Amino acid sequence: MDSANTRGGAPPVPVSITLTVNGREHRLDIDTRASLLDVLRERLGLTGAKKGCDHGQCGACTVLLDGRRANSCLALAVANDGAEVTTVEGLAEAAGAAGEGGLSPIQEAFVERDALQCGYCTPGQLCSATGMLAEAAEGWPSFVTEDLAAEPPALDDAEIRERMSGNLCRCGAYVNIVAAVREVGA
Ligand code: FES
Ligand code: FES
Repeated sequence: MDSANTRGGAPPVPVSITLTVNGREHRLDIDTRASLLDVLRERLGLTGAKKGCDHGQCGACTVLLDGRRANSCLALAVANDGAEVTTVEGLAEAAGAAGEGGLSPIQEAFVERDALQCGYCTPGQLCSATGMLAEAAEGWPSFVTEDLAAEPPALDDAEIRERMSGNLCRCGAYVNIVAAVREVGA
């Protein structure tokens, strides 16, 4: 009789993929079931992106995937062969405008505005804010955008809260997160 470990047949054969993460190319043999989040954290040692829920509900795992924000816990690594990924560890370099402390503008604003408490959600908030600001600059409307002809849409607090609503903060640092995003968006 099959044991629990062998039920369903042989384990899947590893598949070779290439990911460019924070500007460095990595060739990896991965389990086809591995999420991008697990590959980043467990294979590449990039532990900035956090596993909060592993269900696409909290945003703690947010990274930039080919320039767009994405929940890496929901992205199968094998489905993203050849992708370019930016994690919080590479945000400053990707911004190309790292300040004296080696931070991107949104990272600096988070520090200045004290936009974190425990910090667990912060890597996801920073990646999401970076992607969101780029989306807004390209003129993407949100659910609460009133003037669809305005390009780019004005980033008031309602816009920022809506656009960042996929990133939860259990510490409730939202007021300062919004202030930091507003400052950079302006
Ligand atoms: S860990 Fe990915 S959304 Fe929560
Ligand atoms: S700062 Fe603690 S969860 Fe956001």
